[in-house]
Amino acid sequence: ETYENILVETKGAVGIIRLNRPKALNALSDGLVTDMEKALNAFEDDAAINVIVVTGSEKAFAAGADIKEMMNFSYMDAYLNDFITKKWGRLATCRKPTIAAVAGYALGGGCELAMMADFIIAADNAKFGQPEITIGTIPGAGGTQRLTRAIGKAKAMEMCLTGRMMDAAEAERSGLVARVVPLAELMDEVMKTAEKIAAMSRPAAMMAKEAVNRSFEATLTEGLLFERRVFHSTFALADQKEGMAAFAEKRPPNFSGK
Ligand code: HXC
Repeated sequence: ETYENILVETKGAVGIIRLNRPKALNALSDGLVTDMEKALNAFEDDAAINVIVVTGSEKAFAAGADIKEMMNFSYMDAYLNDFITKKWGRLATCRKPTIAAVAGYALGGGCELAMMADFIIAADNAKFGQPEITIGTIPGAGGTQRLTRAIGKAKAMEMCLTGRMMDAAEAERSGLVARVVPLAELMDEVMKTAEKIAAMSRPAAMMAKEAVNRSFEATLTEGLLFERRVFHSTFALADQKEGMAAFAEKRPPNFSGK
């Protein structure tokens, strides 16, 4: 399928979605998030895909929700359409591992979208921010929640209240991003990481992701219980037998994804 607002490609078992509205710095219009939701559904359903990468351009991952599109919304336009999480939230509900490759601006909804991925790898020119306050609104797709969990109250409050941007170095220091790499190497580094994950047992990777995400919802006792039960269940995987046999036989594993 071809899309108007995104470019989609696959490399081996990695599916890549590139946000592509260059004239608007990838502002997240309804058309763009509709395309993205469809592409994510397709990758989730595609048995040949193990990992999903979302990226933008060198100048902008995404400069936020499309301000010109939403500026005249009424409360009921927003409420009845469940603006904005209904379609955007798809990235956060993917069961396969997801990586956001962020270069340039990741502002407002762009920062929120990046935070919906399992982790962010940033180029050294990345800038993160929640500037909604500067246009008379507040974050609406996780900026007050995921950002606070990622970087703590002091920095999240300062960013949400002043709209100031955080550069890549500060984002790494603060725990917002997993790693910062030179801009020219961003996609190579992201693909290396994605391919590494894609070569693991897919169910094991999905279970690891599910267990890490549980830590945001559960008490420690409940989270540890969840982890232990899922860990026990991995002994039903052919991939667990293969992975441990390969270790014992001093050879690389050949995972079947089952
Ligand atoms: C619509 C946008 C846009 C946006 C940029 N553009 N961001 N259009 N919505 N969020 C458009 C500009 O209007 C302009 O179009 C073109 O993209 C290039 O942008 P410039 O401003 O000329 O570029 P530059 O001077 O380099 O500045 C880059 C920038 C600035 C600092 C990123 O564009 C900016 O501040 N953008 C808005 C950032 C923002 O406030 N985001 C939060 C949105 S609210 P023309 O036609 O003039 O060339 C939000 C709410 C989410 O995300 C809550 C629910 C999820």
